[in-house]
Amino acid sequence: MNISVRYQSRGGNTKTVAELIAKTAGVAAEVYDAPVAEPIDVLFIGGGVYAWDIDKGLKAWLRTLTPDKVKTIAPFSTAGGFDGAKRIAKIAKASGVDVLEQLPVKVMLRSHAAIAKSGSLMLKDSEEAAIATFARCVLEINKRNPA
Ligand SMILES: Cc1cc2nc3c(=O)[nH]c(=O)nc-3n(C[C@H](O)[C@H](O)[C@H](O)COP(=O)(O)O)c2cc1C
Repeated sequence: MNISVRYQSRGGNTKTVAELIAKTAGVAAEVYDAPVAEPIDVLFIGGGVYAWDIDKGLKAWLRTLTPDKVKTIAPFSTAGGFDGAKRIAKIAKASGVDVLEQLPVKVMLRSHAAIAKSGSLMLKDSEEAAIATFARCVLEINKRNPA
């Protein structure tokens, strides 16, 4: 199974979350637009929210995805309140890519990231545990529903 963890991060908060997901998945986190060398089975893709939307570059990249490049997407986001993960999901779905949304644990750090200055995200143990659970759930769901 080819797993990829990618992020868009201006200040480092989303990168921190991506690195925790990557650690659980046993891969390295990469910037979102790193080349896709081979088809991805599970793509964890996250971004921050800036002025009520996700990053323009990330949006453009999401629009280049196709089902033959990426089988399933698990979106995540860090933001003050706006649901960036939902935005990522909507764009990916419009490209025909399967999106895992109905998860028992969602990574959406609202109040915490709103208070923290970008780049100074300090996660509580419970938040770190929730992120790891999110990653494990995504991988487990994918294992039970192979292509
Ligand atoms: C310039 C700027 C604009 C932001 N606008 C919003 C916003 O409209 N809605 C929101 O929920 N969060 C907003 N935020 C909070 C960021 O989404 C949050 O700090 C996020 O963790 C940033 O991710 P990053 O550190 O990975 O870049 C904003 C942050 C910055 C720096």
